[in-house]
Amino acid sequence: MIQCPRGTRDFLPDEMEKRRFYEGRLRHTAGTFGFREVETPIFEDAELFILRSGPNVLKELYAFKDKGDREIALRPEMTAPAIRMFVNNMSNDPKPIKVFYFGQCFRYERPQSGRYREFFQFGAELIGSATPETDAEVIAMAYAMIGSLGLREYKLRIGHIGVLRQKIADAGVPRDRAAEVLQKLDKKLYDEARPLMEDMGVAGADIDDIFSLTETVGGTEVLDRVPGEAGDYLRRVVGFLEAMGVRDLEIDLGVVRGLDYYTGMVFEAEAPSLGAEKQICGGGSYTLSELFGGEKVFSTGFAIGFDRILLAIEKEGQVYEPRGIDAYVLSVSEDVRLRAAEIVAGLRAAGVSADVDLMGRKMGKALKHASSVRARYAVIVGAKELEEGAVTLRDMSTGEQCLVPVGELPSRILC
Ligand code: HAM
Repeated sequence: MIQCPRGTRDFLPDEMEKRRFYEGRLRHTAGTFGFREVETPIFEDAELFILRSGPNVLKELYAFKDKGDREIALRPEMTAPAIRMFVNNMSNDPKPIKVFYFGQCFRYERPQSGRYREFFQFGAELIGSATPETDAEVIAMAYAMIGSLGLREYKLRIGHIGVLRQKIADAGVPRDRAAEVLQKLDKKLYDEARPLMEDMGVAGADIDDIFSLTETVGGTEVLDRVPGEAGDYLRRVVGFLEAMGVRDLEIDLGVVRGLDYYTGMVFEAEAPSLGAEKQICGGGSYTLSELFGGEKVFSTGFAIGFDRILLAIEKEGQVYEPRGIDAYVLSVSEDVRLRAAEIVAGLRAAGVSADVDLMGRKMGKALKHASSVRARYAVIVGAKELEEGAVTLRDMSTGEQCLVPVGELPSRILC
């Protein structure tokens, strides 16, 4: 039997209904912040991701040559495509530009719970503004989105990658090798980061300093320990966040991010209940447009790992009940089947979600099927009742039945 490829999943109707429901909530929240949806191709020229995503993403890239010998990659994330789209089509639009997207991304990772090779991101980019308010607006939207799904237990951590980049450069890490060091620090692999930096000629004391910077974690009081202007900047971001009602955030200069394009504020949200793959959201401020042939434009964005956040709310006990349909129409005898077809058509035209027995089942079996498709009502069409222009309406949860004139069915079912 052929199975779906490793790290991918099929989504059956109940699962799909649930996913659409929660996606709808995220979509709604993005709308309340004035963001509008965009869609970019699932595959792009591989170069788009090779230019600046960093070693983490590159080694996981699904890249191949197409029949025209072009280097193509399935998108591992959607920020680079969104900025390419901006450079190609929107660079003259009034700033700031606020866009969001939802779709699948591909990374050749080792699959495990919460980590897939095909996964879904709900993300947003605010393009063309570089103020503390901008960063706060984006974080506030991520916070509102996570809240809109009802997740209770999670941590929001905000840092500033510029501080760490500066520190690493000052310590003597060559510019073109910074990503290697950051990659180790992102994963907190200090044992591997130390020899790597020693090889680059970084002094032991500087390495200790770098490590202790990544362990600067706490409330707003730790901002006093942030060197340069970054501390002030983050203080202003936090001020706007507090004004917008974003609570319980942590300052953490160890937020490094796995992608290479961030320049300033960075943030992550994690749900501890998920164990190893607990990061449910990540983002920050960056510039990419100049790499894709446009002018340098500052942007801030984030992406929520949609699959992971759904796992997290389930772990907290949230259960989604599939809605099912309003009515299931069944015939008592063969001679009324055409009338049943007419009735179901009338219900659908009136906006009732309705199904009809297509297999000529006996009433008992047809009612069982009505339960399995979660119909709220069964509409039982019988010759005797039809003579009076009526059908039997059965409430599937109580089993109560009554006669209803055919013309009144939609209003009775929808009330
Ligand atoms: P990222 O942190 O690489 O950032 O991915 C965002 C989220 O996608 C992660 O926090 C995680 O929840 C989810 N995710 C990543 N890999 C997997 C996987 N293999 N399986 C399941 N979920 C996964 C970005 O992609 C940036 N583009 C975010 C951004 C937007 N930054 C600025 N704008």
